[in-house]
Amino acid sequence: MSNSKAAFRQLVFSGVQPTGNLHLGNYLGAIRKFVALQESFDCIYCVVDLHSLTATLVHDDLADQTRQITAAYLASGIDPKKHIVFNQSRVPQHAELTWIFNCVARMGWLNRMTQFKEKAGKDRENASVGLFDYPSLMAADILVYRATHVPVGDDQKQHLELTRDIAQKFNNDFSDRIAALGVGVEMKVGDETVNGFFPMTEPIIGGPAARIMSLRDGSKKMSKSDPSDLSRINLTDDADAIAKKIRKAKTDPEPLPSEEAGLEGRPEARNLVGIYAGLADISKQEVLNEFGGRQFSVFKPALAELAVEKLAPIAAEMRRISADHAYVDAVLKDGGERACVIAEATMKTVRDIVGFLQD
Ligand code: TYM
Repeated sequence: MSNSKAAFRQLVFSGVQPTGNLHLGNYLGAIRKFVALQESFDCIYCVVDLHSLTATLVHDDLADQTRQITAAYLASGIDPKKHIVFNQSRVPQHAELTWIFNCVARMGWLNRMTQFKEKAGKDRENASVGLFDYPSLMAADILVYRATHVPVGDDQKQHLELTRDIAQKFNNDFSDRIAALGVGVEMKVGDETVNGFFPMTEPIIGGPAARIMSLRDGSKKMSKSDPSDLSRINLTDDADAIAKKIRKAKTDPEPLPSEEAGLEGRPEARNLVGIYAGLADISKQEVLNEFGGRQFSVFKPALAELAVEKLAPIAAEMRRISADHAYVDAVLKDGGERACVIAEATMKTVRDIVGFLQD
């Protein structure tokens, strides 16, 4: 205990998969938070191309999709010089740590993951081992940097709980070696103070836009894989497409309530108010202070105008940046090199903790 460090370095990590068009849910639930967090933390933002193989093994355009997500990060305002932006496959330590975590995590833990159940559907026997193991790679993404904070949408909550379970079990299983090597950090777990190598990473979830729903069905999450393009606003949609999708968004016949409690049982209304709040960076109640008692015929055009005002400049900047392959590729190369240095330092210690023979 005496030679342990007092605290983990505060560090943010998050990732987005290069699969299909980015939509408003990805932007409001994740990327916009990434941008805000740069002010107060060192941040590492990853394009998780290894994860994307669990959705489509053989991509025609994986490189371009990777550039597209990178362009979205940069166009939204992430600074790749102050922080790190890279694609996951450049840093093989993610896969190395995943293997060790595969031996730490229990089948029962992964069996409980609702995202696996949803994505595998009825034919589980035919799902890839990679899809089952997705959360273990996600834990490795985070912990290979010993990141303390992870901004994500609400759908990733269970994966972050699993990340903490894996960190805690690793810290417990190897507690003697961690102490003997003097590589532990003191931390609170419940009421206990323990000495561990991996932090109990905090999720950053919440706000009015943590879970943006489909524009066609307020009970379904807005998603890249929804067959209806009208269900989502893509970050690359032009002003006409955005206005049309909001005009056609499902609603109910009642005017908007004046209090947030009045959105109860009205999922579509709640979703549109949440989108407005997320885009304007205000609370749902503040939206209702302005629009309570008004019909959707008034609210929808105001929402469309706000969405175009906020998203059109990002879309234009994304187009400009993603056309410049040389620039995007250089950002990812530089980010990958800097990420590798941190990840390798972690893995060197992890190899010692596990007991592998190394130089
Ligand atoms: P992905 O690409 O599926 O989603 C990227 C981010 O967008 C959020 N999100 C949403 N937020 C609000 N409303 C929605 N409808 C919505 N849809 C998606 C997701 O929560 C996510 O934050 N597993 C991750 C990728 C990942 C990762 C990581 C994240 C891999 N390793 C390590 C954090 C840390 C994912 O869902 O990507």
